[in-house]
Amino acid sequence: MQIQSNKEQLHAPFHWYRTMRATQPVFQSPDWGGWQVFRYADVARVLSEHATFSSNGQRMAQSGEFDVESDPLESSILRMDPPRHRQLRTLVSQAFTPRMVAQLEPRITTITNELLDHVTTTGEMDVVRDLAYPLPVTIIAELLGIPAELREEFKRWSDAIVAGDEGLTQQERSALIQEIKGMYGYFTEVLEERRQHPQNDLVSALLTAEVDGQHLSNVELLGFCGLLLVAGNETTTNLLGNMVLCFDENPGLVERVRQNRALVPGVIEETLRYYSPVRAMVRVTATETMIGEQCIGPDQLIVAWIGSANRDEAEFPDPDRFDIEREPNRHVAFGRGIHFCLGAPLARLEAKVALNAMLDRLPGRWQVADVPLEMINSFIIFGAKKLPMTWGS
Ligand code: HEM
Repeated sequence: MQIQSNKEQLHAPFHWYRTMRATQPVFQSPDWGGWQVFRYADVARVLSEHATFSSNGQRMAQSGEFDVESDPLESSILRMDPPRHRQLRTLVSQAFTPRMVAQLEPRITTITNELLDHVTTTGEMDVVRDLAYPLPVTIIAELLGIPAELREEFKRWSDAIVAGDEGLTQQERSALIQEIKGMYGYFTEVLEERRQHPQNDLVSALLTAEVDGQHLSNVELLGFCGLLLVAGNETTTNLLGNMVLCFDENPGLVERVRQNRALVPGVIEETLRYYSPVRAMVRVTATETMIGEQCIGPDQLIVAWIGSANRDEAEFPDPDRFDIEREPNRHVAFGRGIHFCLGAPLARLEAKVALNAMLDRLPGRWQVADVPLEMINSFIIFGAKKLPMTWGS
């Protein structure tokens, strides 16, 4: 069981969300002027009603807070509206259909087992360092056709992209921007190399792909690489880590699921809901609109709190209970509408393989070490930086 300070730290955002849902569900932030929504119905609408709530990166940049230079995802499909979004998404989605992803299962299993080989005899590991980080990053690197030895660089680059700049000094901010420029430099070299020597990987496929007879622009190609790197790095890692936190909070659950593997998908879905790895997404209003009783003008930034929507009592009975048999479980952890996570089948498969392998190979009770948890400093990502655990007791 978690030590008290960890429990408080983990649960604190959810207390705040609950208060906001009850008292100020559509809230204008006095410090930066943007809006925040907390209720399930509003979050689902903001995420999916794309004509009113735009994902356009340039529009967001003009609305303040967002700085194009420090936000390479600005030129990715995540920050595009139709029709360009649909054209580019169609291209890349062919690599992520459930059928394509299912073919990766043997490779995911091999990598998972190799990673667990290093720790099974020791009886302890740092889930993040030893499994949850290297597994997805290796898979995404192989998909992109980039050497997995560059893991450390990947980690620094994607951490820099999701890092909030709250409380950072000018020097720290410049260091983040340097990291991101380093990533761009690296991907520019990879693109050039693949242009000369195409291979059987996603980067080569993107280079040859055409939309209406036109190749993707360099900026679009770089945006794709950056997005996949971050999406493959920061999200599934935290799904796996957060799953361990959920087991830790629910004594007896490991044994139950170990004996009945049909419960594995329920654990994954409920973790996605209960400790959503992506807790917020941003939009900008394209026109004036009403949300609840608030009238919001055009060009206003809106933070949609996925983490709060997934605990909304109006959608989920007894929302603070971790219930792996929750039915229905219409969480919005992967978003909603045209931007629905392209990597969802991959993330679910990686989580399934990893959890089954852990249940097979890490016997007995699992316990998160009694040390203070350090959470990732990002308003988008929810998860712990390190997660030491033991088993076998
Ligand atoms: C547990 C793991 C993951 C979570 C919780 C997650 C969450 C999300 C969310 C909430 C969105 C919607 C963004 C929006 O509405 O603006 C999204 C979009 C996206 N995700 Fe994921 N993601 C995960 C894993 C992955 C993986 C493994 C990949 C690919 C390797 C991936 C690729 C993408 C892409 C490309 C988009 C943009 C789709 C678009 O704009 O059309 N994600 N993800």
